[in-house]
Amino acid sequence: MFAPAHASRPVPDAPPPVTTATEAGTAPLEVNAAMRAPAGTPSSAGSAPLSNEERRKSASLMRVNHAGEVAAQALYHGQALVSRSPSTRDMLLHAAREEADHLAWCETRLKELDSRPSLLNPLWYCGSFAIGALAAAAGDRTSLGFVVETERQVEGHINEHLTRLPAEDARSRAILNVMRTDEIGHGATAKAAGASELPAPVRVLMRNAARVMTTAAYWI
Ligand SMILES: [Fe+2]
Ligand SMILES: [Fe+2]
Repeated sequence: MFAPAHASRPVPDAPPPVTTATEAGTAPLEVNAAMRAPAGTPSSAGSAPLSNEERRKSASLMRVNHAGEVAAQALYHGQALVSRSPSTRDMLLHAAREEADHLAWCETRLKELDSRPSLLNPLWYCGSFAIGALAAAAGDRTSLGFVVETERQVEGHINEHLTRLPAEDARSRAILNVMRTDEIGHGATAKAAGASELPAPVRVLMRNAARVMTTAAYWI
């Protein structure tokens, strides 16, 4: 939780920008980012320079996504620990590894944006781990249903962020698009494995819990 995240796949990169922004007031963000990027990280040449205000907005949204990935990993780890069948456990751990990629990509992007992860990440991890374990204690089919609902809600968050990101931030958008594809895959795999539909009150509870986390992580 406190060490840098490591990705098994490179950070998704954006296509080259159509125009080069040179207006006064834009931060030389991407030059600095390329200098700081760890070895093996593709260049962020796909993003045009962002103004300070755009950079702050992108950072806040990517901090929310980073916190979401901390929570996603914790949910999967908690569920895997309590899962009944080896096949369910393998599926959960495979998804958790992809969430680790997402976490590392968001962490890289936050650094590029001169920002930081949520200070409340330990809270998101511990709370989500407990919730994941609790969901799995209800049985594998319920646990898989929890995955389906979680990923459905994450997809909704990503869709919303794709509309809220500054238009110039193609780099963050490229990352979110690949994450979105993976999240849809996680939900579909869980559904195909026999997920049961969660009761409506549980889905509402999950949505409210996610709202608390995303609102807090935007600022803190
Ligand atoms: Fe994810
Ligand atoms: Fe996922």
